[in-house]
Amino acid sequence: MIEYSALRTLHVICVVASYTLFVVRGVWMLHASPRLNQRWVRVVPHVVDTFLLASAIAMVVMSGQYPFVAGWLTAKVVALIVYIGLGMLALRRARTRGVRLAAWVAAQAVFIYIVAVALTRQALPFVG
Ligand code: HEM
Repeated sequence: MIEYSALRTLHVICVVASYTLFVVRGVWMLHASPRLNQRWVRVVPHVVDTFLLASAIAMVVMSGQYPFVAGWLTAKVVALIVYIGLGMLALRRARTRGVRLAAWVAAQAVFIYIVAVALTRQALPFVG
């Protein structure tokens, strides 16, 4: 049986990898770089995000703290959905460069919020 602390380490490694990949892909997007379409760039982020979510679900089950019961986990799930939506706008869907840039910056703000929620276990980490 895998240890909780190992899952948390895996989760945090995936968090760093996921953020790094998102920032790099955003820079390539802003430069209209063909590197954005490399095969590994299309595959690796999905693998990382799958491990990120799988480790999260495993920790939720092991700790018995569930989203829609524990407020901070609800906040993480909702913010994750917003982050995914903004990420899709930034890297694929938005038509203009301005909207893509705005979505890319906003997605990073949401990501930082998620990390703050994780570290404080508070849905409103920047309040009092
Ligand atoms: C982009 C999405 C996510 C980011 C950036 C993120 C970030 C983090 C970070 C930095 C930690 C480590 C906290 C510490 O060291 O004390 C953590 C822990 C954790 N995360 Fe996530 N997380 C994300 C998604 C999720 C989701 C969707 C869930 C579950 C619904 C989740 C559940 C947990 C749990 C249960 C812990 C362990 C808390 C503890 O035992 O201290 N995470 N997360």
